[in-house]
Amino acid sequence: MILGIETSCDETSVALLDGDGSVRVNLIASQIERHRPFGGVVPEIASREHLQHLFPLVSRALDQAKASWSDIDRVAVTAGPGLIGALLVGVAGAQGLSYALDVPLVPVNHLEGHLFSPYLREGAAVPLPARFLSMVISGGHSSIYDVANGRVTMLNRTRDDAIGETFDKVAKFIGLPYPGGPQIETHASHGTIDRRRFPLPIAQFKDESLDFSYSGIKAGAIRMARKDEIRAGGDSKLLADFCATFQDALFAQLFDRLDAIWSRLRQPLPTEVAIAGGVAANGTLREKMIAWGREHGVIVRLPEKRYCTDNAAMIAFAALQKTAEAGDPRRVTARSRIA
Ligand code: KG4
Ligand code: ZN
Repeated sequence: MILGIETSCDETSVALLDGDGSVRVNLIASQIERHRPFGGVVPEIASREHLQHLFPLVSRALDQAKASWSDIDRVAVTAGPGLIGALLVGVAGAQGLSYALDVPLVPVNHLEGHLFSPYLREGAAVPLPARFLSMVISGGHSSIYDVANGRVTMLNRTRDDAIGETFDKVAKFIGLPYPGGPQIETHASHGTIDRRRFPLPIAQFKDESLDFSYSGIKAGAIRMARKDEIRAGGDSKLLADFCATFQDALFAQLFDRLDAIWSRLRQPLPTEVAIAGGVAANGTLREKMIAWGREHGVIVRLPEKRYCTDNAAMIAFAALQKTAEAGDPRRVTARSRIA
């Protein structure tokens, strides 16, 4: 069994998976309530919470899986990117466990965790195709990856804000609680998209780059919200229409880049396209993705909602995609940024 540990941001998570990707247990201690008064994640609070929750969660995971220490044959931990103080708690804990149990420690890039997560399901994981695209859209990242025979190539990235961050910042400005993505989604579901009333164009680069850019939409949306006095608790129809249009503009850019990337790919084309990360929990986006797949004759993989936001099951699953190198666990280091 592989033990996964994730502490890169504001969820402490511990999971146990079998070698075929079956999730025996996936526990998450969310800190959202602790950070909510501050409208975003406070790094010092995150580290302290991880310290308190990590080992109790490991014990509880073993209990729930009816497993013992000797059942663990590998430990996987998020080594970055993320908040350095938060990562350090998970990495140090994983190092101690790996050393004490005398089992290999596999450092995992948090983004690789997300990008394989659509293949987790009840029971054994979905077999990975030879080649797939995975769009990772979260609070910290927006990137499309090409995964061919286990080799991961980043095809684009955001030049400024991540899509989830854009949801969160605009939501915060209009007075909606953190995290803003699900809040905007709820209001958007009662609204009507009106691009003329709320013009939020898709960012384009002169050099035909396929990168994302969300700072323009963010600034435009905040300007509009200020001018039209769009606020939580204000005119609810106005708020709903604004949220619907803002959300639609964010997603329009995702599909603009996905279309462009798709049209530039060489044969043989990937057979599957996946989305992952917190924003992949959005119901409207999930429907749009299914429609996109139908149009392009590609299988679309949507992660189960519990595997969209940060969790340790995806970290352990990403480690299963690597051949375990039995290196010295003391050499694993936490890195806040990974090139
Ligand atoms: O993957 P995640 O838990 O953390 C990072 O690694 O960043 O993603 C959190 C992000 C937040 O920005 C949150 O607002 C967004 O995912 N999010 C959503 C939805 N649920 C979470 N955005 C849009 N619609 C949702 N339903
Ligand atoms: Zn994440």
